[in-house]
Amino acid sequence: MFALNFNKITMPIFYGKVALVEFLNSVKSTDSTIGFVPTMGALHQGHLSLMQQSLAENQHTVVSIFVNPTQFNNPEDLEKYPRTLEEDTKKIASLDPSIIVYAPSVDDIYEGNVVSQNFDYDGLENQMEGKFRPGHFNGVGTIVKRLFEIVKPTNAYFGEKDFQQLQIVKKMVSKNHLDVKIIGCPIFREANGLAMSSRNERLTTQERDKASIIYKTLLEAKEQFKTLSCEEVKQWVKSVFDPNTMFDLEYFEIADEETLIPCSTILKDKNYRAFIAVFVNNIRLIDTISLK
Ligand code: PAF
Repeated sequence: MFALNFNKITMPIFYGKVALVEFLNSVKSTDSTIGFVPTMGALHQGHLSLMQQSLAENQHTVVSIFVNPTQFNNPEDLEKYPRTLEEDTKKIASLDPSIIVYAPSVDDIYEGNVVSQNFDYDGLENQMEGKFRPGHFNGVGTIVKRLFEIVKPTNAYFGEKDFQQLQIVKKMVSKNHLDVKIIGCPIFREANGLAMSSRNERLTTQERDKASIIYKTLLEAKEQFKTLSCEEVKQWVKSVFDPNTMFDLEYFEIADEETLIPCSTILKDKNYRAFIAVFVNNIRLIDTISLK
């Protein structure tokens, strides 16, 4: 274990799973719970809110910081993904120094074999992010399952910004009969409405400012969904982005929250959600909103 000394506070940080597991075994008792927040670092307020929820609901909180290579379908995105371990650990320590940090190497996780396992998520993987990022959800399933096997959490916390990922993780847990409760937590937004994301760090001030259009469009789409068909709302969103040279719309979709199947006719007993992915100067941003 490496203990971070920050303002005279020490926080446990582990770079290897063997020492982490040993430590967890020594601190947990039969009736204590472990809350787990998996992250890829470059922590923002959204991540910290997941940690706060875990701290409130569990005796121990573990946070992992690991940029998982197998979930990146684009090598440039992997290479440019922000890596800010020192700042991240300071942010965690100031939130609560009792949080246990696991920041493994690629080798500690993959043991020399950096490949994904194949998962069947009953079709959830074929929509939106799955369609545009081939292999992405096999990579997510692989790392999340591996981390669950190491940390053995009681509860695990995921942000709703990656709503498809949240549904995929729930499906993976139920299909593999894993003993962990998956908890979805609300999206955190910047003052202009832009959903918080580690990728926002790569935007210029102007791009970050203008990217407020993404959430504004989602809010307007929600209004339109009250009176227009799914196809009409989709066409309207396309017409917002088409003339805008700063943004490149990859997809806008309205789908059933449960199955993620795109809506054709609106059924009363279903809950729908809008999903969007937009490129700003090669930086990919996603967002989502419930249409209920
Ligand atoms: O949402 C993320 O940051 C990642 O996909 C996760 C869940 C930490 C797995 O690498």
